[in-house]
Amino acid sequence: MNPDPRLQAVEHFYDFHPISAQQILAAVAARGVTPQEITEEVLQHHDQDHYGGTAAVDRLMAQAGVQAQDEVLDVCSGMGGPARYLAWKTGCRVTGLDLTRSRVQGATELTAVAGLSDRVQFVEGNALAMPFKAASFTLAIGQEAFAHIPHKAQLVSECARVLRPGGRLVFSDILRRQTLPQEDARRLFDGMRFSEIASVDDYAGWLQTHGMRMVHVLDLSEEWTRILRERHAMYQSLQAQTVERLGREHYERYDQAYAHFVGLYQVGVLGGALIHAERL
Ligand SMILES: C[S@@+](CC[C@H](N)C(=O)[O-])C[C@H]1O[C@@H](n2cnc3c(N)ncnc32)[C@H](O)[C@@H]1O
Repeated sequence: MNPDPRLQAVEHFYDFHPISAQQILAAVAARGVTPQEITEEVLQHHDQDHYGGTAAVDRLMAQAGVQAQDEVLDVCSGMGGPARYLAWKTGCRVTGLDLTRSRVQGATELTAVAGLSDRVQFVEGNALAMPFKAASFTLAIGQEAFAHIPHKAQLVSECARVLRPGGRLVFSDILRRQTLPQEDARRLFDGMRFSEIASVDDYAGWLQTHGMRMVHVLDLSEEWTRILRERHAMYQSLQAQTVERLGREHYERYDQAYAHFVGLYQVGVLGGALIHAERL
């Protein structure tokens, strides 16, 4: 386990997240699909842990211009949904990096079940000290995960280091659109384990410092406000399962934290964007 208490808190959060690989396999089984029949076409409706499902991955892929020859790094790959989808759709190779061992294990298991292990692999590690050589990848992606990471200048520096010159960094993140009051920042860490919420301008500065150029920013704030309301309702629909698996107190704590998070979108304090940068 990582010595930084903020990273330990993130690992604990994902060890006890309402959605896990086992829960995904149970949802697929409930549709009457046997383990032998599971393919990426089936899994992709259940395993995307970001906002907007595979349509959001399609948009990211179009922005990044992903090709079969790309060597892709998915930074904070979770249960591996986007990594598998990208490899399945384009034929490229994808490495997923994630801090949380249970997420790496779940992603590896789901990838084997989908028959994609020859092109998609997962590595346990910290995005702030990536276990990869310099210039290993042509494209790095990330979705709805960087808000968990403190020291984001170091995260951008690591992304730049592992990309080849001309390589692209295309990611979406939870962002602040105005000053985030300290009390809200504290509650976002306590409830959702978001350590540091950046603005687009913060990213622009870090990218420039680390030899990268901002190519495009697509504001997703409005779209995410709607999606987050729907996600909150989806988590609430899993109440019985979550209470059985993790207990009522855990369910209620998560529900209240999510309501606070969605509320900050509704009042315009939080937003989101898809950011495309290039390594010079
Ligand atoms: C919301 S999930 C996103 C998963 C994936 N991007 C997707 O769209 O399905 C966030 C993931 O970030 C990972 N994570 C958080 N901090 C990290 C860090 N410092 N290094 C690597 N992974 C990290 C968590 O373990 C978690 O699996």
